[in-house]
Amino acid sequence: MTPNETVRIDDLPVRDELRGKSPYGAPQLDVPVQLNTNENPYPLPESLVARIAERVAEAARGLNRYPDRDAVELRTELARYLTRTGKHPVAVENVWAANGSNEVLQQLLQTFGGPGRTAIGFEPSYSMHALIARGTGTGWISGPRHEDFRLDVAAAEKAIAEHRPDVVFITSPNNPTGTAVAADAVLALYEAAQAARPSMVVVDEAYVEFSHRDSLLPLIEGRPNLVVSRTMSKAFGAAGLRLGYLAAHPAVVDAVQLVRLPYHLSAVTQATALAALEHTDTLLGYVEQLKGERDRLVTELRAIGFEVTDSDANFVQFGKFPDTHAAWQRILDRGVLVRDNGVPGWLRVTAGTPEENDAFLDAVRELMKEQER
Ligand SMILES: Cc1ncc(COP(=O)(O)O)c(C=O)c1O
Repeated sequence: MTPNETVRIDDLPVRDELRGKSPYGAPQLDVPVQLNTNENPYPLPESLVARIAERVAEAARGLNRYPDRDAVELRTELARYLTRTGKHPVAVENVWAANGSNEVLQQLLQTFGGPGRTAIGFEPSYSMHALIARGTGTGWISGPRHEDFRLDVAAAEKAIAEHRPDVVFITSPNNPTGTAVAADAVLALYEAAQAARPSMVVVDEAYVEFSHRDSLLPLIEGRPNLVVSRTMSKAFGAAGLRLGYLAAHPAVVDAVQLVRLPYHLSAVTQATALAALEHTDTLLGYVEQLKGERDRLVTELRAIGFEVTDSDANFVQFGKFPDTHAAWQRILDRGVLVRDNGVPGWLRVTAGTPEENDAFLDAVRELMKEQER
């Protein structure tokens, strides 16, 4: 047998495009204040934990059987939630769910991307879009953004016309910048994408519950090539659950079923998500608190003297640092973990509890003093 350490990834017959690459992953360091992965800092309330236990126990009694392959009850409740909060009526036929919105996005690229096809995103943006493109054999095009990180609609239209991508990603609010996109900008890019190919436009709304703006969900009406992707990882405080979903024309829901694995969403996941949806109002109450904390971070960081990008998400991008990694490390040395997303000069902090945010602000105040010295 060959000793483990002598065989590396590149010694295996892996696909060419995976050679020399590293897996996605933010550092999971054991420090007192972890504000690096845009999680919700509030644990689920005990009443919800008890309800999850009840619903999971019920599901456990049927675990000898495969789960509902079409997750109809869960999709019905997600549709109800979207209708209530998205200012647009959505039915079960419009909704599809998977293990995190990453899996939703992967299924979309398996369906509408793939070998010989391309997808575009306007960067800096959520780096998994490019990685899921790579994993599905979809060519990746890095589209432009304004210097101040807003979407540059004219430049984006031009890039779409030039590259004629099969899939267009619009992330609103965008990660890591926090910037939201107006409905008329999405419509302009949708028109450009239809004129160029036509192609699918995927609006990634992972953070929309934290936005000052309304959801772009109503735009799916009459636009079968537009998909809105959502997650329970952020607003529902359930990153560990792994539940993402999309809303679109029923034909899109039918299309992704061509690539989904059978029974991809376990009975335990479905039961847990249903329990969480029963507690929507309580969980959205935490979102209101976090929005207040996010706005406080923006104000205080500016008062300290940092440049701060306007944020519609549960995180804030701030800078500018002559040496981004050194700044990240100095903040870490004070027990606070933020994220270096590889945007030169800028770091990103997730809004935590008031106490965590105070610890972060103390750390960056000291950092600013050091920089001034
Ligand atoms: C913009 C965006 N989309 C999607 C996701 C994926 O979320 P999940 O797979 O947990 O639903 C994230 C996670 O950070 C994100 O930032």
